[in-house]
Amino acid sequence: MSAIKLGILGATGKVGTELLKLLENWPDFPLAEPPTLFGTAKSEGRKIKFKGHELTVKDSQPENLEGLNLLISCANGEVSEKLVPLALKKGIKLVIDTDSYYRMDSKVPLVTIGVNDEDIDWHEGIIAGPNCSTAQLVLPLAALNKAFGLQRVIVNTYQSVSGAGKAAMDELIEQSKIIVQDNELSLKGTPERLAKDQFAFNVIPKISKFMENGDTKEEWKVIVETRKMLRLPELKITCTAVRVPVLLGHSESVNVQLLNSFKLEQVLEVLQNHPGVQLWSEPETYPMPLDAANTIPVHVGRVRLDESAPNCLNLWIVADNLLIGAALNALRIAETAYKRNKI
Ligand SMILES: NC(=O)c1ccc[n+]([C@@H]2O[C@H](COP(=O)([O-])OP(=O)(O)OC[C@H]3O[C@@H](n4cnc5c(N)ncnc54)[C@H](OP(=O)(O)O)[C@@H]3O)[C@@H](O)[C@H]2O)c1
Repeated sequence: MSAIKLGILGATGKVGTELLKLLENWPDFPLAEPPTLFGTAKSEGRKIKFKGHELTVKDSQPENLEGLNLLISCANGEVSEKLVPLALKKGIKLVIDTDSYYRMDSKVPLVTIGVNDEDIDWHEGIIAGPNCSTAQLVLPLAALNKAFGLQRVIVNTYQSVSGAGKAAMDELIEQSKIIVQDNELSLKGTPERLAKDQFAFNVIPKISKFMENGDTKEEWKVIVETRKMLRLPELKITCTAVRVPVLLGHSESVNVQLLNSFKLEQVLEVLQNHPGVQLWSEPETYPMPLDAANTIPVHVGRVRLDESAPNCLNLWIVADNLLIGAALNALRIAETAYKRNKI
C-alpha cells in the first residue's frame, strides 16, 4: 500500500481549515507528503502553515491534481460536478466529497463512520459524506435501530451559521455588531446583503431552497440521507430545519418511535455504549453547542420517555457540525478506506 498523496479542494474554507487542523494532530494518518491545497483563483498563492511547512494554495485547475491519489472536496456543488470527474480521469483513486452533489447517486456510497463503514468497500471512485445535520442524527439513530428498530423519527434542527460556511459566520458577527451598536431590532435600512434573512437575533425556519411539497432542500436531505445510510428506504421520518444565531454547533430535538418496547435504562445503556456518542445522563445536565464546539463526539442528552404515543422517546442531539458533519468524517473515511486497501 503506497501512502496517501492528498489534495484538499476548498482548503481555505471552514471545513478545509478544520481538516488541516485535524491532520496536524493525527500522527498516524498515512500521509506520504504534506497535502496539496486548492482554493479559487483569488486564494492562489496564499500561504498556510502545516506541521512546520509553509504550503502554497493552488488554483483548482485539473492539471494541478496530477500525482495525487486521494482528494477531499470541501468546496461546493459546482466544483463537485465539474472537477471531481476530471480528478478521477487524472488518476486519483478516491474522491471523498463533503458536498451534497453525489450523495443520493446510487453508484456512490454515502458514509458516516460508525454507521455504515462497510459501504466504503463498494466505491467506484467517489464516496460522499452526509449533510451536517444528518451526520449527527444518524449515529444515535443507528444505535437505536440496531437495538430496538425504528418506527418513526421527527427531527427539529437548530443549526448554526457555520453550516453555511465562512461568509455566513462573518455575516452573523457583522450583523450582530451593527444591531448592538445601533440598538435596533432589525437591519432594515442597512445594505441589502445584510438585511436579507437576517441571522443575528433571529430564527429562520428555512435552510436552502423550498421544494414543491413545502419542505426545504435541507429537510429533504435529512430524510433521504438517513434512509440511505441506515438502509431503511421506507423509514417514516420528517424534519423541520431551522437556522439559529449560533456560530458553531448544530442542535436537534428528536422524537423517536421504536418498533420494540423498551425500558429507559436499556436505551441509555445502548447510547452509552455506542462508539462516538457521548451520553449526558446525569440529572439536569444537557449539552449545548458551546459544549460540542471543537469536540469529537456526538453529544446526546435529555433522553426521556414520551408517553404521548407507544414506544416513544425524546432526545437532544448536539455536535460540532464542521467536525462530525464534514471534516472529521471525511478523514475517518479516508483512514478506513486506506486500511481496507480502497485507495
Ligand atoms: N459547513 C458545514 O458545516 C458543512 C457540513 C457538511 C458539508 N459541508 C460541505 O462542505 C463544503 C465546504 O463548506 P464550508 O462550510 O467550508 O464553505 P466555505 O467556508 O464557504 O468554503 C468554501 C471553500 O471552497 C473553495 N472554493 C469555492 N469555489 C472553488 C473552486 N472553484 N475551486 C476550488 N475551491 C473552491 C473556497 O475557496 P476560496 O477561499 O478561495 O473562496 C473555500 O475554500 C460545501 O460543499 C458544504 O456543502 C459543509
